[in-house]
Amino acid sequence: MGRMIEPNPGILAYLTAYGGRETEIQQRCREETAKRDDAVMQISPEQAASLALLARLTCAKNCIEIGVFTGYSALAVASAIPQDGRIVALDVSKEYTDIARRYWREAGVERKIELRIGPALASLDAMIARGEGPFDMVFIDADKTGYDAYYERALTLLRPGGLIALDNMLYSG
Ligand SMILES: C[S@@+](CC[C@H](N)C(=O)[O-])C[C@H]1O[C@@H](n2cnc3c(N)ncnc32)[C@H](O)[C@@H]1O
Repeated sequence: MGRMIEPNPGILAYLTAYGGRETEIQQRCREETAKRDDAVMQISPEQAASLALLARLTCAKNCIEIGVFTGYSALAVASAIPQDGRIVALDVSKEYTDIARRYWREAGVERKIELRIGPALASLDAMIARGEGPFDMVFIDADKTGYDAYYERALTLLRPGGLIALDNMLYSG
């Protein structure tokens, strides 16, 4: 197996500045979140850029995000999908997602994002029961104990060949 090359802080700063092309609004969302004790929940600019790239490469239009927090990942994907694309965004927290909505509004992508507050599993089951979909891409980034169930629901809601991205899959082994 090949050895990983550890990026040093200089390379990371370079990648963040030139690789991700984070917008000024994304940057502010990240910086506001960084002041919180729970900031570690937010994906990194590199991950956001990768998600946006995946959405573009797969021509994703209809997406689901499970775990919204302050809206950074949804902001990246919403900016990458077409004008008539949409993200069904699931989270239990109104407090977190009030912050998210503020940035989505500012970025002009709020109408692409349909926020549903409540336990994600119940929301996904309701979506399946209503026959919603098919979706092109699902990003799973909520409570880790729910991942199995979210993955199974995602398989039902996705189109054939659709994409599932999971954050922290190998977290702490
Ligand atoms: C890791 S954070 C999401 C980070 C976000 N994707 C980002 O990049 O900023 C996890 C989120 O999952 C939400 N969450 C936790 N348990 C949940 C559940 N059972 N149903 C829905 N959302 C849940 C939390 O409120 C939190 O906002």
